[in-house]
Amino acid sequence: MPKIAVLGAGGRIAKLAIAQLREDERNQLTLYLRNPKRVRELPSDGVLVVEGDVLDVKLLTQTVQGQDVVYANLGGSDIEAQARAVVSALTAAGTRRLIWISTLGIYDEVPGEYGKWNHHMLDGGYLQTYSAAAQVIEASDLDYTIIRPAWLSDNDEVDYETTEKGEPFKGTEVSRKSVAALVTELVKNPAEGIRASLGVNKPGTDGDKPAWY
Ligand SMILES: NC(=O)c1ccc[n+]([C@@H]2O[C@H](COP(=O)([O-])OP(=O)(O)OC[C@H]3O[C@@H](n4cnc5c(N)ncnc54)[C@H](OP(=O)(O)O)[C@@H]3O)[C@@H](O)[C@H]2O)c1
Repeated sequence: MPKIAVLGAGGRIAKLAIAQLREDERNQLTLYLRNPKRVRELPSDGVLVVEGDVLDVKLLTQTVQGQDVVYANLGGSDIEAQARAVVSALTAAGTRRLIWISTLGIYDEVPGEYGKWNHHMLDGGYLQTYSAAAQVIEASDLDYTIIRPAWLSDNDEVDYETTEKGEPFKGTEVSRKSVAALVTELVKNPAEGIRASLGVNKPGTDGDKPAWY
């Protein structure tokens, strides 16, 4: 019975991942989020809902204790502080497996014109703080997988490929549903992607910008 805690469970990728994870009835889900009442589509049956902020390290430590996998779908300008809180809580709880959603561009790995456009769109705080957060995760002793999605669409499709850290990023876009599918695959195969940082994109979407720009 895999125990999975989802942090930021009301987030858009998280909601899709929760639906996919619930297709396997063995998965026991704990949903950790700041405002459960505000989130539509949150399952009420067969899951434990914890109302909390990840910066509340005490509550987070209690929540992740005994979990097999922690999937963090977080965001915001304080993402580095959130990463520190998550690493502290998991370390204190003795929970090792972490899936962490980040973004493309944190290693300056996006080539060509698209890389320049991505800098233009995401410099000025976002890339720097997401990069700092990833460094916090990578400096930990945790069994982490960092996921670096391309620009996200809400297309109802699962179609993705991955790149490793050190390889140039491929493609320009990917659907949230595909990122959720990658998370679900990693939960299903917990020995895969350990201490890895995976770019994720839709195949065949190379270009100077995502198609909708
Ligand atoms: N848009 C893109 O093209 C793109 C591309 C690559 C990566 N990304 C990144 O991918 C990540 C996930 O994407 P998404 O669409 O699922 O994002 P999302 O819908 O904004 O979800 C992020 C979640 O983080 C939660 N959160 C923030 N601070 C928190 C805290 N202190 N404690 C607990 N929860 C907290 C938010 O909760 P509240 O509802 O309480 O605020 C929100 O539900 C984001 O970090 C995003 O920046 C985006």
